[in-house]
Amino acid sequence: MTGRLRLGVNIDHVATIRNARAGRHPDPVRAARLAAAAGADGITAHLREDRRHIGDQDIEQLRREIDLPLNLEMAATDEMLAIALAHHPHAVCLVPEKRTEVTTEGGLDVVGGRARLGPVITELGRAGIRVSLFVEPDPEQLDAARQLGAPVVELHTGSYCEAPPGPERDRRLERLQRAAAHAAAIGLECHAGHGLCYETVAAVAAIPTLVELNIGHFLIGEAIFIGLDAAIRRMRALMSVARDPVAVFRS
Ligand code: PXP
Repeated sequence: MTGRLRLGVNIDHVATIRNARAGRHPDPVRAARLAAAAGADGITAHLREDRRHIGDQDIEQLRREIDLPLNLEMAATDEMLAIALAHHPHAVCLVPEKRTEVTTEGGLDVVGGRARLGPVITELGRAGIRVSLFVEPDPEQLDAARQLGAPVVELHTGSYCEAPPGPERDRRLERLQRAAAHAAAIGLECHAGHGLCYETVAAVAAIPTLVELNIGHFLIGEAIFIGLDAAIRRMRALMSVARDPVAVFRS
């Protein structure tokens, strides 16, 4: 028997569309309200150095107006640390950030970045903010996260999602399965996300030691065709069936 799998809805790309016209529509805070009504367990937003989607004002408004836990994705910089401490989100997910990347390209190098990450994890933890580290499904990175005192890791599912169905995707899924088991074995809460869609979510949701998935781009894209409410409900349903088919059948 496995526990309920939480869904964090990433609303970054509502802001991407808004910013294309430098106006106020569509409003990511309205999307967060809708996500809450559709059954999201949390809202995720990535405040990038270049503010290409979510802006500082969005973070302030999300904290003020949305009751769901806010998971702030950010780089481990002094600027972002100050913002997190000022707004005090429920959680911070530390991610690597390159100015030129289209999206977060890989996991953090926790092993090589201990000196930078350690003090940031400590300060956030002291402020009562739950810290997760976005990492590749690599046991060495998980061990380093544990040693630095991070309570949570989020496994990067991007490379699994990019592979077409077949042996290579299966191999990447097995890597995620092994990493999620290892994370739980060493006492880390384990999340996953990046690139997940209707087609790829079930196999990940079925990994029993995962407790949260963070999904954004696909849901916002799908919302164009079927609406955000329906897109989130369908994703939730796929996650629930994958996690516990018998319970879903009985309900
Ligand atoms: N988790 C993390 C740490 C991310 O950086 C992102 C992308 O911002 C996501 C999850 C969501 O990825 P996607 O938008 O591809 O669903």
